[in-house]
Amino acid sequence: MKFKINKSITKGQTKVVFDKTLKFNKVAFKDGHQLNIGIKDQEINEKTLQKLAITLAQTANQFNLESLFLPATAVEFWVDEFVHIATCAMANNDYQIQKIDLEPTEKNALQNVIFEAGKQGSIDSALALANGMALTRTLGDMPSNVCTPSYLAQSAQDLAKEFSLNCEVLEEADMSTLGMGSLLSVSKGSIEPPKLISLSYQGNGKAKPIVLVGKGVTFDSGGISLKPGAGMDEMKYDMCGAASVLGAMRAVAEMKLKVNLTVVVPAVENMPAHNASKPGDVVKSMSGQTIEILNTDAEGRLILCDALTYAKKFDPKVVIDVATLTGAVIIALGKHHCGVMANDQDLANDLIEAGKRANDTAWQLPLDDEYDELLKSNFADMGNIGGREAGTVTAACFLSRFTKDYRWAHLDIAGTAWVSGAKKGATGRPVPLLTQYILDQI
Ligand code: BES
Ligand code: MN
Ligand code: ZN
Repeated sequence: MKFKINKSITKGQTKVVFDKTLKFNKVAFKDGHQLNIGIKDQEINEKTLQKLAITLAQTANQFNLESLFLPATAVEFWVDEFVHIATCAMANNDYQIQKIDLEPTEKNALQNVIFEAGKQGSIDSALALANGMALTRTLGDMPSNVCTPSYLAQSAQDLAKEFSLNCEVLEEADMSTLGMGSLLSVSKGSIEPPKLISLSYQGNGKAKPIVLVGKGVTFDSGGISLKPGAGMDEMKYDMCGAASVLGAMRAVAEMKLKVNLTVVVPAVENMPAHNASKPGDVVKSMSGQTIEILNTDAEGRLILCDALTYAKKFDPKVVIDVATLTGAVIIALGKHHCGVMANDQDLANDLIEAGKRANDTAWQLPLDDEYDELLKSNFADMGNIGGREAGTVTAACFLSRFTKDYRWAHLDIAGTAWVSGAKKGATGRPVPLLTQYILDQI
């Protein structure tokens, strides 16, 4: 799909009219030359503009329109935002799932989008963001027999090559030397070797980097605390934290932003096996703290805690981890907001604001000491679960025990990273939120 700025309309393009008499988001398609879309009684904001853009793309595809010409007048002072939002939304709408060994399904009709006004830079940055989201969705949609920890490591290395990034992949033996007993307790029941991936982009000299840590469980069977069979296929998405930090890295690198960014991905597969961890096992994390594994299905925190300790070596400005960590966050917030928890209120606020601007919102949950007490264990410094109550919060409390040395926030994306049902697939969230947060730091 191509996006352009051009003052005048050319033959063959369908003119879009923002129609104040038509109900919001309703389309009236007159003939081949004009498509009206309703904006009656609606405030123009990030959300409504995105909705309009998606409706326009879908309508164009439905009516086989190849080129749309979008006016600037109706969006008033939102011109550049509109170009950015519409470009990203329409490019994202064009994403297609790569089916293994099958030809791609037919191309969408809409090929050209022409904006009457705006800056080329808005198109470029929107496409960089859309490319980041497409990477995240591609990795998330891939089956776990293809997208293994090794595959994630290879993807990071490919990105490094394309954008001249620094990539390092630690193997099981390296992690063992570093004392990552918690991370390795998750991968040991799987035939797939674990990988600890770090990828750095240097756009701002010697400044301290923003560090993003993404949960990369390429399949979460639950381990010995095996999950029920129904819907277990969806646990291939348990690497969407990893996929989204790689997606954000791709967007930032393509935008050539003046920041330093490092992403860290602990990548493992969680399987039951004769040599898998068992409930009651006690392991020692890289931090020296010991953990009683009460449930092998609470594996995300077990890999993240060692990755979060490892992250210190980058002397981070802030650390943000991103993880499909708990089913409880879906119960609490559904699929609209991801959960955010932090040891620093300014950081939480910045992420929430970035989420609003990027149409990729987050909602804060508390992190009081009372919740942390639920992690007490008779046999180790802590258990890896806190019981039925406030599962999203106790998971974050667990992580917070490993993040005392820096400003830290945690995004629980179990609800927002994908959609279930007929349109099952990865969403590319929270790449927009992360990228906006990084943009705001410049
Ligand atoms: N990967 C899951 C969380 C999850 C659930 C993500 C549903 C997406 C959809 C995570 O590893 C997990 O299994 N968490 C457990 C924690 C429990 C054992 C304390 C959960 O949420 O049930
Ligand atoms: Mn699990
Ligand atoms: Zn998991």
